[in-house]
Amino acid sequence: MRIELRPVQPDDLPVIYEYQLDPEANRMAVANPRDRAAFDEHWQDALNDPAVTARVIIVDGELAGNIGCFKLRGLDSVGYWIKKEWWGRGVATRALSLFLDEVQARPLYARASSSNIASVRVLEKCGFQLQGYEWAEATERFPASEEAKFRLL
Ligand SMILES: CC(C)(COP(=O)(O)OP(=O)(O)OC[C@H]1O[C@@H](n2cnc3c(N)ncnc32)[C@H](O)[C@@H]1OP(=O)(O)O)[C@@H](O)C(=O)NCCC(=O)NCCS
Repeated sequence: MRIELRPVQPDDLPVIYEYQLDPEANRMAVANPRDRAAFDEHWQDALNDPAVTARVIIVDGELAGNIGCFKLRGLDSVGYWIKKEWWGRGVATRALSLFLDEVQARPLYARASSSNIASVRVLEKCGFQLQGYEWAEATERFPASEEAKFRLL
């Protein structure tokens, strides 16, 4: 598999919109999908924010997911989402590893619901260290869950 990252372009957004609606992916991430208005607003802000680095993950020429770095509670944080068709083939691990070569900010933080075994493994395999667990109250975007907090020095 040939995996590359490139900046998110407006033409990518319809594809990203569709896979972020997937119920199984949202159960895994313990997230609520964004409706069209919330999605458009989120991406308009992200693409105009110089503090955000947003990339799409291209596998063998096909858009397979997205990965990004953004400020969360003042901390440089990473997040990613892989289209279901590509799960379990090492795409997230490889994409995060490529992303860490590109993004120089350290320390870098990540949070995953502690039930999200796959995401926790991706972070561990890329060198992130578990800092602890925290109960996160529900927000519009995320149902309440226990989150695992990670840091990469
Ligand atoms: C979580 C997610 C990013 C993993 O992507 P992926 O490309 O399938 O991950 P990889 O193939 O690189 O696998 C990483 C590890 O997770 C494991 N894994 C993958 N899917 C799994 C699953 N459903 N259950 C348990 N482990 C799983 C893999 O076996 C691998 O671990 P190993 O090397 O010890 O065997 C992807 O499932 C996804 O986008 N889910 C929905 C959105 C989400 O949860 N985003 C992260 C929010 S914090």
